[in-house]
Amino acid sequence: MKAPGAAEFVPEGADLARLRQAACHCRGCDLYRHATQTVFGAGPANADVVVIGEQPGDQEDVLGQPFVGPAGRLLDRALAEADIDRDAVYATNAVKHFKFVERGKRRIHKTPGRTEVVACSAWLDAELDLLRPRLVVCLGAIAAQAVLGPSFKVSAQRGEVIEAEDYRVVATVHPSAVLRAPDRAEAYAAFVADLRIVRAQLGNSAAAR
Ligand code: URA
Ligand code: SF4
Repeated sequence: MKAPGAAEFVPEGADLARLRQAACHCRGCDLYRHATQTVFGAGPANADVVVIGEQPGDQEDVLGQPFVGPAGRLLDRALAEADIDRDAVYATNAVKHFKFVERGKRRIHKTPGRTEVVACSAWLDAELDLLRPRLVVCLGAIAAQAVLGPSFKVSAQRGEVIEAEDYRVVATVHPSAVLRAPDRAEAYAAFVADLRIVRAQLGNSAAAR
């Protein structure tokens, strides 16, 4: 029997375009029930850098693209400031459907649970297998724990270059945490500093500006 979760929806031998298409029909956990659509990763298939967030937000859910809302705009700005070419980066999320609670007309982000992260990991694994990036950047605890295991602590190890089997990993905070920080300027500067560590790893990569 196959493990529960997204695995049974992931087609074998597919390229990114086919994966993205198949992910539209995923029912690997309950999150597809209330979200508008699957938000799959986006970016060039030859990207050296993969940035992983948590899950699509409200605007991503509506538009079907990752990192197009406020957190995405902050990410774009910070990447540019760290001299990383945004267009050469593949961006995706640990969980591909928006999890939220309704408060009146607003949909408030709800952090995905470990069950949902594990259920959705087959999509992330398939993306990383095809992309074979040099460097993986994890934004926030959910992404970092999806890649590095549930005991990983971003607060203790942010900005460290971690050697994984197939690529190096740098974990940092989530751009939404920067937007919520009491001292936003300081949080933003620390976020850019972590991205500069990523930039320093890129050598002659197309992502290095
Ligand atoms: N936050 C994320 O983690 N991912 C997105 O795609 C948008 C906001
Ligand atoms: Fe499938 Fe992931 Fe969506 Fe759950 S969140 S239904 S596992 S794509």
